[in-house]
Amino acid sequence: MPKITFVDSSGEARTVDGEVGATVMEAAIRNAIPEIAAECGGGCACATCHVYVDEAWVSLTGKASDQEEDMLDFAYKVQPNSRLCCQIKIAAELDGLIVTTPDRQG
Ligand code: FES
Repeated sequence: MPKITFVDSSGEARTVDGEVGATVMEAAIRNAIPEIAAECGGGCACATCHVYVDEAWVSLTGKASDQEEDMLDFAYKVQPNSRLCCQIKIAAELDGLIVTTPDRQG
């Protein structure tokens, strides 16, 4: 299973197993990762699953869709590497993915 590392805003890292075909948000919720609220359950409608994708992984995770970009307007402290992690599908090549969570959502 691809490993995904979540680094929280204090710098603490948690590495979890991600299921291919699931989303990074689902891996976060399953593993009780702090700082991910995911209030809409993955519908790209809440912007409370905001993460920063580690620069080394930005090309592999791809770009946000137009709908995701619109929702990111509601996220806190958006950066060029910001994504809503319910919109990142876990694939085998994402093994080792590192994302950082902002100190608050919304
Ligand atoms: S869980 Fe709501 S936008 Fe990702």
